[in-house]
Amino acid sequence: MAGARGRAAGRNKASGADTASETPIETLDEAAAAAELARLALEIAHHDRAYHERDAPEISDAEYDALRRRNARLEAAFPALIRPDSPSRKIGAAPAGGFAKVRHRVPMLSLDNVFAESGWREFCARARRFLGLKPEFPLSFVAEPKIDGLSISLTYEDGNFVRGATRGDGTEGEDVTANLRTMKKVPQKLRGRAPSRIEIRGEVFMTKADFLALNSAQAEAGQRVFANPRNAAAGSLRQLDASITAGRTLSLFAYAQGEASESVAETHWAYLARLRKWGFEVNPLSRRLASEAEAAAFQEEVGLTRGSLGYDIDGVVYKIDDLALQRRLGFVGRAPRWAIAWKFPAERAATVLAGIDIQVGRTGALTPVAHLEPVNVGGVLVARATLHNEDEIARRDVRIGDTVTLQRAGDVIPQITGVVLERRPPDAVPFVFPDHCPVCGSLAVRPPGEAVRRCTGGLTCPAQAVERLVHFVSRPAFDIEGLGEKTIRAFYEDGLVRSPADIFRLPAREAEIAGREGWGALSAANLVQAIAARRTVALPRFIYALGIRRIGEQNARLLARHYGSFASWRGQMLAATTVGSPARGELDSILGIGPAAAEELADFFAEPRNVAIIDELAALLRITDPPPAAEDQALAGKIVVFTGSLETMTRAEARARAEALGAKVTDSVSAKTDLVVVGADAGSKAKRATELGVRVATEAEWRELTGGG
Ligand code: IVH
Repeated sequence: MAGARGRAAGRNKASGADTASETPIETLDEAAAAAELARLALEIAHHDRAYHERDAPEISDAEYDALRRRNARLEAAFPALIRPDSPSRKIGAAPAGGFAKVRHRVPMLSLDNVFAESGWREFCARARRFLGLKPEFPLSFVAEPKIDGLSISLTYEDGNFVRGATRGDGTEGEDVTANLRTMKKVPQKLRGRAPSRIEIRGEVFMTKADFLALNSAQAEAGQRVFANPRNAAAGSLRQLDASITAGRTLSLFAYAQGEASESVAETHWAYLARLRKWGFEVNPLSRRLASEAEAAAFQEEVGLTRGSLGYDIDGVVYKIDDLALQRRLGFVGRAPRWAIAWKFPAERAATVLAGIDIQVGRTGALTPVAHLEPVNVGGVLVARATLHNEDEIARRDVRIGDTVTLQRAGDVIPQITGVVLERRPPDAVPFVFPDHCPVCGSLAVRPPGEAVRRCTGGLTCPAQAVERLVHFVSRPAFDIEGLGEKTIRAFYEDGLVRSPADIFRLPAREAEIAGREGWGALSAANLVQAIAARRTVALPRFIYALGIRRIGEQNARLLARHYGSFASWRGQMLAATTVGSPARGELDSILGIGPAAAEELADFFAEPRNVAIIDELAALLRITDPPPAAEDQALAGKIVVFTGSLETMTRAEARARAEALGAKVTDSVSAKTDLVVVGADAGSKAKRATELGVRVATEAEWRELTGGG
């Protein structure tokens, strides 16, 4: 059925499956049937628009199919009541505004579905009857996996790609040529001989891997996540800004022909071979079947490999191979008589949401995971499903105790696609996302504009501890030789090192370390020595080692230089946790420290556990103040020019840093210029500086000069 693919339920009232089975059709009188047909026409049109125009389906495939089936049954029982706007007369949805329209000279059809071998046999019998073929007349087929994507039409003139369009309502689609031109899989030129004008059709889709990568990037950036690969493919292709499409990875399998100035093959199988020669990808699982008896085995074979494919398929399309027979068969309504989609059982189910677990990732990100009453989805028992993030729960208004619909696409983590509101328990309350880390109890904060809430207890939180400890001892931080990730992990697991301060307590356990597997007296002594050598640490390194988000080496140096000593920094940071305080104002005003970094610092110091860790460390270490850097003065009042492209910082950043050190940044080089910093591809300004005898520095020298390392 058109538009039935890849639907994902949303939170809107899904009147589909339930309503459809409500009143037996035999008991309806004409008036009631007419009223229901009117309602179904409106409702199906609504869901078609949600699916085709907004790529945001609100009900599941099964629910949508049920609506259409109910409509078809009513129409069969009351043929006089078939409406001019009946959904059975329409294919998909009218094109969305924004794209130019393209008329399909040969309509882009849909396919009828069967779900079992009996349906397949009926399809074959119907075709034979129509053609007047005896059962012994051999009928061969081409079988192709049915990909869950969106169909497109590609027109080539004299071998050149000239236009691409979506299916739209079957007769009129959207001109997405610019978007299709960004796709590697769309040949811009046909290889070899081709008719002067030919239209090729196929399916644009997204692989599971590309879908997962896109969704995690979207989630990380606080952007909308897609319900399934089909929606992601449609949403990526139907972009008014083709550069967005270019940034997404879309795939294509070609499988059908539209209009052509001359015939290119006598069988569909031969046509697929031509497609390959022209440079298209044809699904490699496509197979020619010598008779209808071979279909069931193929269906089963594909069904078994389905989960291991890199993309979603929802069935197999069987097409009569002989194109002359195809022409004779023609089509009825919106589907051809020569092809059928044999669908797999839906990998969808409904179950009760027993709870929502919050997992804490290595970077401190809090991710909600649905805890489900186990349910079989397409042969796999599912007890957990991803809920993406806080906003996703709120958007779907998922509540504990709700019956939710699930979908599983191959090996992709199962997803919750909607809530069955009719089954909501009366006492279900909206889920309140925790503002403390469930693992360590520290504050969990969500910076403005970000989708992810994060635990601020990085140093104490067991979920993040190993990662943070590895950072703590890394080269630009404490730089402790002999303490790599493997050792940290092993020490953490055995309880030797649980917090950064424990590292400085290791020397007391030298004998114990020496006795560990893989260690000896010498290696233990070396480690103890390496640790002892780092008991004195410069303030910038200390700040950097804490692993506060957005406080890299550069910001750590700026902070150390600004506050001058550990005690002053610590005190001012604590004071800066109060929004609107003078200390916060001062932090915000430090050039080079952006508002997001200031926010992260304040969040870090607002968590008492973090302050306790810092104090514990301070008691064990000697933290040295940054020297009143001579280079600071060296730049005061100097006139600096940047030219060429800088590699390790933006122009804005370089300028801010120069100004923070008292320099004046100008655009043009003159005799008054004190320093010209040249990046890559520097042009006339660098030349002029040399001519005028002005000092020239490379980007690396500049970093060195400003203490940037
Ligand atoms: S042939 C007249 N072949 O399924 C034949 N369609 O439900 C029209 N589809 O609109 C299509 N894989 O988007 C054909 N190998 C395949 C297909 C395929 C997926 C999609 C296509 C079509 C829909 C019909």
